[in-house]
Amino acid sequence: MAQLFDRSSNALARMSLVLTGLIVIALGVTLDQLQRSPWVTRQGQRPDQPVPFSHKHHVQGLGLQCQYCHVSVEKSSYAGIPPTKTCMNCHAQIWTNAQLLEPVRASWATGQSLTWTRVHDLPDFVFYSHEIHVNKGLGCSTCHGRVDQMPLMYAQNTLQMEWCLDCHRNPAKNIRPTSEIYNMAWEKPAEDRPVWCAVGGEKSGLPTAQSVSCTTKDPGAAGAEVASLQLPLSPEGLAGDVAATTLPAAPIYKKFTSQDELGNFLVDHYKIRTPKDLTSCEVCHR
Ligand code: HEC
Ligand code: HEC
Ligand code: HEC
Ligand code: HEC
Ligand code: HEC
Repeated sequence: MAQLFDRSSNALARMSLVLTGLIVIALGVTLDQLQRSPWVTRQGQRPDQPVPFSHKHHVQGLGLQCQYCHVSVEKSSYAGIPPTKTCMNCHAQIWTNAQLLEPVRASWATGQSLTWTRVHDLPDFVFYSHEIHVNKGLGCSTCHGRVDQMPLMYAQNTLQMEWCLDCHRNPAKNIRPTSEIYNMAWEKPAEDRPVWCAVGGEKSGLPTAQSVSCTTKDPGAAGAEVASLQLPLSPEGLAGDVAATTLPAAPIYKKFTSQDELGNFLVDHYKIRTPKDLTSCEVCHR
């Protein structure tokens, strides 16, 4: 009996199977990319706002601190958006006729708050808190980028789960001294940009970010100045134990010239949990 299907149609069948497979994969990849695309995550987009508020003008230009407007960022989960009153502290006197500020004046006159469109907005099933991040040495710029250079606010990062996990798996690469969290221009330590840290009054078991003090100015230099100031006071006492016991114990500073060393030191002293603990589902989904 003649073959119903010859060799070539066999090959054709195989080919179409392969093709179907490829199309399915391509579709999957496209959907995945779509799900991660800025169009879905709104990363980088500048939404319409009632007033074109510029962080660049108010932060870089006028030198206002973040906490002046985002008052609860260190104490609560929510950083807070300032009420109209905060704007009127200045705009009752400055730029009082500017058309751009009409919605602010209207809000002040009527008592109706301005409705800002949220730029960052996690889904409700995710738990997030500013308090812990900020108090454990994560700077605003690590998550929000150079806000001081943004004429209009946009999201620097996707805020997707993978982004959170990437840091939770290895926080050491991002942690800085808590004294630097508002420093928009902070850069990782390097040979020519060292950081010195000292630990004092540490109580075991407590979160102790407060008991670590760090500086970007050579504390050795400052220490030498203090010592020389005391010289004339007790010239004879300096030789021997007397000086050592009368001078208050200076904190011992350790010098760091890379993010690796500094990060690991701070993870240790800020009592940061292990990556295993920090990536367990219950941390963010409660
Ligand atoms: C003069 C007040 C003021 C100061 C100072 C200020 N902000 Fe804002 N910030 C606002 C206002 C108003 C909004 C809401 C409008 C917008 O999104 O631009 C906002 C929005 C934001 C948002 C986005 C909120 C959202 O919808 O997701 C972030 C992030 C932010 N600010 C960070 C900072 C940081 C970091 C600093 C310090 C470097 C800072 N802000 C200083 C007033 C201020
Ligand atoms: C500490 C004083 C101060 C506060 C508080 C303040 N502003 Fe301003 N704002 C200024 C000054 C000064 C200018 C003029 C800046 C310039 O032209 O260099 C300005 C300019 C503006 C402008 C004009 C566009 C621009 O950025 O130059 C807008 C809009 C504005 N502010 C909105 C707001 C809003 C909304 C708030 C409250 C969230 C606010 N400002 C809080 C001082 C302030
Ligand atoms: C570890 C990352 C991270 C750091 C560090 C961080 N933020 Fe945020 N921020 C977020 C996330 C995530 C959201 C969105 C929260 C939500 O939708 O519930 C957000 C939202 C905001 C908002 C909008 C209002 C709110 O609370 O939802 C403001 C304002 C803000 N951040 C300011 C700041 C300031 C100022 C700092 C520095 C003192 C800072 N953030 C540090 C991740 C961070
Ligand atoms: C740049 C680093 C970084 C990023 C990005 C980051 N986190 Fe964290 N997160 C930390 C560190 C560090 C801690 C503190 C851990 C500790 O003290 O044990 C923490 C703690 C937490 C906690 C624990 C709070 C508590 O009280 O137990 C939650 C919840 C959390 N993060 C949620 C998130 C979510 C959600 C995102 C993404 C939207 C996120 N984090 C992004 C570094 C980060
Ligand atoms: C560090 C915080 C964090 C941890 C830990 C975490 N998630 Fe998430 N998860 C998120 C965030 C943020 C989102 C929202 C992502 C978005 O809006 O795109 C999310 C979204 C999800 C979603 C919704 C689908 C999606 O991808 O948007 C599921 C399902 C989920 N997480 C499961 C888990 C499971 C299972 C674990 C434990 C293995 C886990 N998550 C651990 C932060 C976290």
